[in-house]
Amino acid sequence: MPPVAAPIPAPSDPSDGPRHVAIIMDGNGRWAKARGMPRTAGHRRGVETVRATVRAAGELGVEYLTLFGFSTENWKRPADEVNFLMGLLRQYLRAELDTLAKEGARLRVVGDRDGLAADIVDMINIAEERTRANARIHVSIALNYGGRADIVQAAQRLAQAVALGKLAPAAIDEQTVERHLLTRDLPEPDLLIRTGGDQRISNFLLWQSAYTELIFSPALWPDFSKADLEYAIAEFRRRERRYGAVAG
Ligand code: IPE
Ligand code: IPE
Ligand code: MG
Repeated sequence: MPPVAAPIPAPSDPSDGPRHVAIIMDGNGRWAKARGMPRTAGHRRGVETVRATVRAAGELGVEYLTLFGFSTENWKRPADEVNFLMGLLRQYLRAELDTLAKEGARLRVVGDRDGLAADIVDMINIAEERTRANARIHVSIALNYGGRADIVQAAQRLAQAVALGKLAPAAIDEQTVERHLLTRDLPEPDLLIRTGGDQRISNFLLWQSAYTELIFSPALWPDFSKADLEYAIAEFRRRERRYGAVAG
């Protein structure tokens, strides 16, 4: 992606998608470091970007927005930082639920809830329940989420069904696996954006992104703007998705 000052390509038709945009929100720590601030200051600013991005995605006609908030590997960070992130999550859920509910957003959390504090799990359940009937935009936050862990838990549940004689191994196909993933209620992501300049997946939606278009933005997450999102969407619309077939 060019620098932020580059002209935004002409707007294109929302019916061209992307329906589902997934984002690896990376670069909070570097944003803070560049300003001589603690990493936590970057996370705090990152929450502002989450708010702005949810709004911008809705305005741009995105139906599903999935944000990587905390990975199964992020527990390796210093306890202070992990605690701060969990505190921010509590604040976000407390402060944003009304707005999300009013704006017609349906909130979901994907990830292993067993690893999260009980009060956070309660808040998640309340938020999901309260926004269940909304459909203007589906906002999913991946928390304690790992792509490999998701595939492993699906495999365990399928193995259990086989052991109980409820499922024949030969009956397992891609749809069966998909139905057991934590993302089973979401379509596959059309566009995956990673901010922060690194070009890797870091264990995000491994199965689900088999044919997802990838865009790496140099913007650090606290600096990511609606213009950057529009730019990524315009770039997505220029791509030809072939799914292994011959160009049409
Ligand atoms: C992303 O920013 C936020 C989370 C992973 C929770 P980082 O904290 O990874 O910031 P950098 O990559 O160190 O700059
Ligand atoms: C990916 O970012 C996870 C989230 C954005 C939540 P990381 O900062 O954890 O990824 P690595 O360590 O650079 O691969
Ligand atoms: Mg990072």
